[in-house]
Amino acid sequence: MKVLLIGADGQVGFELWRTLQFNREVIPTTSDGRNVQGMTTIKLDLSDADDIQKKIDNIKPDVVCNAAAYTQVDQAESDVEIAKLINTEAVSVMAHSAKKNKCLLIHYSTDYVFSGDHKFPWKEKDNTNPKSIYGQTKLDGEQAIIESGCEYMVFRTAWVFSNRRNNFLNTMLKLAETHQQLKIVNDQQGAPTWASSIALATMLALNIPETGLYHLTSNGSTTWFGFAQKIFSQAERVGLIPKQPELIPISSKDFPTDAERPKYSVLNCRKFEGIFNVKLPHWQTTLQLCIQQRMKP
Ligand SMILES: NC(=O)c1ccc[n+]([C@@H]2O[C@H](COP(=O)([O-])OP(=O)(O)OC[C@H]3O[C@@H](n4cnc5c(N)ncnc54)[C@H](OP(=O)(O)O)[C@@H]3O)[C@@H](O)[C@H]2O)c1
Repeated sequence: MKVLLIGADGQVGFELWRTLQFNREVIPTTSDGRNVQGMTTIKLDLSDADDIQKKIDNIKPDVVCNAAAYTQVDQAESDVEIAKLINTEAVSVMAHSAKKNKCLLIHYSTDYVFSGDHKFPWKEKDNTNPKSIYGQTKLDGEQAIIESGCEYMVFRTAWVFSNRRNNFLNTMLKLAETHQQLKIVNDQQGAPTWASSIALATMLALNIPETGLYHLTSNGSTTWFGFAQKIFSQAERVGLIPKQPELIPISSKDFPTDAERPKYSVLNCRKFEGIFNVKLPHWQTTLQLCIQQRMKP
């Protein structure tokens, strides 16, 4: 089975590359064809619709796996056109090419498609109502896939962390180097999800692919404040930081951002668990594994 992996240098993309290559031929792409940890990739810039089509037509993969996205949530409020181009239009091109070439499209979306205005875990069929440009462009990407008529698996995930690239875990550990006190938002709730868990779950789902939209996050949930508390307690325990900074819980109102985030975006993952017989571990367990991996041998 040949997998065209788009966005192989992202948090999720890189873990997919490591995981899927065990039993599949993976063709990794990046926006500029760079080497990633000494491994070569081919160039595929998602702002070039013709190239997306050409690559899929020429490579003729069994699976197109799109881990690329415009993920800068605040920046998207001013970069509306580029966010649309990458998160919606490029995804539509991919979906139509996948349909034409009869390949399966795997794609990732976000908890930010929901308003966050109720307090029980969101199901796939619940009404969407994104509060941000990022959320809207990701939702439009989902809809483009569904409307294309291709075979697809779309996984909505959330609060992704890993030891690579920009994410909350890396930001917190960086800030701890220079701050003894940090104010962290305590009124947004979600499920921190390890990029490696997403990759492994994707590999397992690929064994019995079934078209559909699925929620795919870690078990359990917390606030950014709760996430930060665990990051620092675990980091201190393994000696990654000498001392935990003092954490002060604040409300979103006291930490204005360009994009509004949902207050409650915990996802109900029962559909994924039932169909693929896979349940992701608790976020605290995977956070511990992720932090342990940072430790030098
Ligand atoms: N991060 C989160 O907290 C979060 C939460 C919910 C859902 N998601 C979704 O999960 C998926 C994976 O997210 P992630 O956190 O792994 O992303 P990430 O680490 O921010 O990586 C984004 C990837 O998109 C690629 N990309 C951006 N613009 C591109 C372009 N013009 N052409 C080709 N590639 C381009 C980047 O490639 P280059 O490095 O080559 O530019 C990079 O590989 C995305 O669909 C995202 O929307 C993420």
